[in-house]
Amino acid sequence: MAASAVIAGLGAWLPPSVVTNGDLCSRLDTTEEWIESRTGIRERREVSDGAATVDLAVKAGERALKSAGLRSVDAVVLATTSPDRTCPAGAPEVASRLGVGAVAAFDLTSACSGFVYGLATCAGLIAADVAETVLFIGAEAFSTFVNPEDRATAPIFGDGAGAVVLRRGSPDEPGAIGPFDLGSDGENADLLAVAAGGSRQRASTRLGNDDVPTEDWYLSMAGRAIFQHALARMTASANTVLDRAGWAVADVDRFVGHQANIRILTSVAQRLGIAQDRVPANIDRVGNTLAASIPLVLAESCANGHLRPGDRVLMTAFGAGLSWGSTVLVWPDVVTTSPF
Ligand code: UT7
Repeated sequence: MAASAVIAGLGAWLPPSVVTNGDLCSRLDTTEEWIESRTGIRERREVSDGAATVDLAVKAGERALKSAGLRSVDAVVLATTSPDRTCPAGAPEVASRLGVGAVAAFDLTSACSGFVYGLATCAGLIAADVAETVLFIGAEAFSTFVNPEDRATAPIFGDGAGAVVLRRGSPDEPGAIGPFDLGSDGENADLLAVAAGGSRQRASTRLGNDDVPTEDWYLSMAGRAIFQHALARMTASANTVLDRAGWAVADVDRFVGHQANIRILTSVAQRLGIAQDRVPANIDRVGNTLAASIPLVLAESCANGHLRPGDRVLMTAFGAGLSWGSTVLVWPDVVTTSPF
């Protein structure tokens, strides 16, 4: 039987700067009531003082290593869609700053599905004998990719980071991750995209392309269409992974879904038949933090006792790509601090 990846440590971190709905109302044509009732978000965190994604990743990584009682790992993987730079990846810098040695390190881009895609990738590194232990971090300073003048996106996204240490183990022990369901739909890639900055639309006078419209540097989102895709894909993916795991819906103690909109989370849980008191949420305080979303919920729930050893956990994410994924695990005995 192939080795499984088992959660051995957990850590999360939020930048201290809080942006409330009231703060946004002072510069955007919106209301606190609109934002809270349509999204469930009351405030979000934002990087300040020049901090960027790698800074957040290092903080969450430190906490996860401490939680695992480890000083080093065999690999560092960073899931982010708001990298510090388009080149190089941020993971090698994270590994250096954490002092874990000259280990394998790379980034992975899968937007809001990044945490689930990354867990599958890291489980693969362990099963393929590439690594015994992996530090896997989802970190985002996505506020820097959002147009501060755009009322359709500025209220939604926030910054933060969450990390797990994975170690080689057996599939039947607590903390073993899997099976997985992963999927994508590139035909709808344009529904949620940042147009400029990559190879298709670079901008510099020297490259003869200095007239990229400002909005192309920022995220554009067809919110209503994304909402409908999220409902359908998250529900289907969750059902698929439950089938693969041989779990009934009634077996699920905690449904940890990507925090994009409280209405999405509530509707998906309803469609699955999972009671709302089994659905932890922090979107009211952090907004949509993409790849950091699920581990931020895990860390808070684990720290405050809402997630206990032995709980059967279903995780489902959906985001740009389009992409989606689900996995399950029985919660292990790990100790961490709340990111709040
Ligand atoms: O992680 C995956 C990525 N993202 C998502 O999952 C997001 C999915 N989508 C959503 O969460 C929701 O679609 C939003 C919260 C983004 C928008 O809510 P909605 O209920 O779908 O609103 P809408 O985009 O259909 O807009 C309704 C109205 C529009 O006005 P008209 O055309 O009806 O006159 C918008 O212009 O609300 C207007 N609107 C706003 N009004 C006040 C849009 N943003 C705002 C705003 N304040 N901030």
